[in-house]
Amino acid sequence: MTATTVDADFIHVFEPGSDPARRPLLLLHGTGGDERDLLSLGRTVAPGVSLLSPRGKVLEGAAPRFFRRLAEGVFDEADLRRRTDELAEFVLAARERYGLAAPIALGFSNGANIAAALLLQRPEILAGAALLRAMVPFAEPPRADLAVKPVLILSGALDPIVPKANAEALARQLGESGAAVEHRVLPAGHGLGQADIGLLKDWLARR
Ligand code: MLT
Repeated sequence: MTATTVDADFIHVFEPGSDPARRPLLLLHGTGGDERDLLSLGRTVAPGVSLLSPRGKVLEGAAPRFFRRLAEGVFDEADLRRRTDELAEFVLAARERYGLAAPIALGFSNGANIAAALLLQRPEILAGAALLRAMVPFAEPPRADLAVKPVLILSGALDPIVPKANAEALARQLGESGAAVEHRVLPAGHGLGQADIGLLKDWLARR
């Protein structure tokens, strides 16, 4: 049983893993999710790994998110920059508090988009990232040195929210910044399926 912690920074769950040698996962939910959404996915794809899972602080109606948007796929980039720094500081504080190595992000949709923003704006925070149904976060991305950080992007060929060219542009941006990007396009929509789980599990096992 895991407990949600409420404190001055982010409402979050920390679930210690049984294998301290493995890097923790930073779980970042999609719009309308919360800190519990990706826990079972995290346990399935990375058994024994510590899980750190914050809840996005921005509310769209009643739906938590990690940053504001002006319309679907149109981001408030000033807010995104600020929220990215805020999340980066949360990760640093949580590493201290729970004694963690730099995490690998596992983000879905809005959570994948802020994970991509973290890579580009605060490259020191993550050891790598699995981005599920992600899109380009910044119109003009900051120059980052992602020197061979592993990044997995899983896109859906039928995704109505993330156009194919946008996911390709994200893969290109991260690759040009030095990341070791693996981009797979699945015969899927915006939702996740068994194929995502299998690919994630394999990719994480190779980390
Ligand atoms: C976003 O706003 O981050 C993307 O449009 C994905 C979503 O949350 O629907």
